[in-house]
Amino acid sequence: MALVSSYQLLKKASQQKKAIPAFNIHNLETIQAVVEAAKELNSPVIIQTTPGTLKHAGIEYVSAIVKEAAIQYNIPIALHMDHCPSFDTIVNCIKYGYTSVMIDGAHLDYDENVELVKSVVKMAQAVGVQVEGEIGKIGGVEDDMYVHEADAAFTIPEEAKTFVEDTGIDSLAVAIGTAHGMYKGEPQLDFPRIEAINELVDVPLVLHGASGVPDESVKKAIHHGMAKINIATELKNPMAEAIKDTLSDPSINDPRKYMGAAREAVKAVVKDKIRLCGTEGFASEF
Ligand code: 13P
Repeated sequence: MALVSSYQLLKKASQQKKAIPAFNIHNLETIQAVVEAAKELNSPVIIQTTPGTLKHAGIEYVSAIVKEAAIQYNIPIALHMDHCPSFDTIVNCIKYGYTSVMIDGAHLDYDENVELVKSVVKMAQAVGVQVEGEIGKIGGVEDDMYVHEADAAFTIPEEAKTFVEDTGIDSLAVAIGTAHGMYKGEPQLDFPRIEAINELVDVPLVLHGASGVPDESVKKAIHHGMAKINIATELKNPMAEAIKDTLSDPSINDPRKYMGAAREAVKAVVKDKIRLCGTEGFASEF
């Protein structure tokens, strides 16, 4: 099948208190790991790239591989651009078939953020592409963006409502206690805040920084209204470990061996996350 709209996935997931897992991929093997796991569990998935990944792998290659995967595996796959600060890059993503995009203006002040997001919404929605926005500031490291703990700011529910109304976005990333990258201690999620935001806004909510969040907390976040769960670091770590482990045998130099091991390691985590999000078997509903 062709790539699907993320919004369609998120809307149906949130109605059923499920969330769509969104995996940050980096190369052929990570894409294969995600789609093979999704196919085996009959789950829809969102495959997402950051600007850094496109710089590394090239939008032409990435988009062609993901589109081909959707055809070959015949499961609902959305291709999403994650944390993009640039209007022009988003135009390019749409040109290459992305079905949703995140415009990240969280570093701007409120009015500038709204203006940037509105301009993307107007352009993207005109061609049927959905837009994720962020209000509040999620801490941690993603690509070359670093938000220090002290600069992270929780999303204020009333501000979230105004932001959604002012911009017309299709989904909203919120800061409720998670951060990008691994945690030093156990992250404390603000569940009442998720619930309060969910009551005030009528678009699906997105949880960033899900790596390292205990399963019970992710489940509870989904129960309180999170409809998209972003996972990046928890795929990178087992991939790196599998490669290091395989290459500890100095006779191995074949990329198919160490990248094959990496793909299997990533696939196992993807399966766990699909089950955690409750979307095993959910592909049949699309
Ligand atoms: P993690 O690296 O913490 O999983 O965060 C992923 C993310 O939120 C991508 O936007």
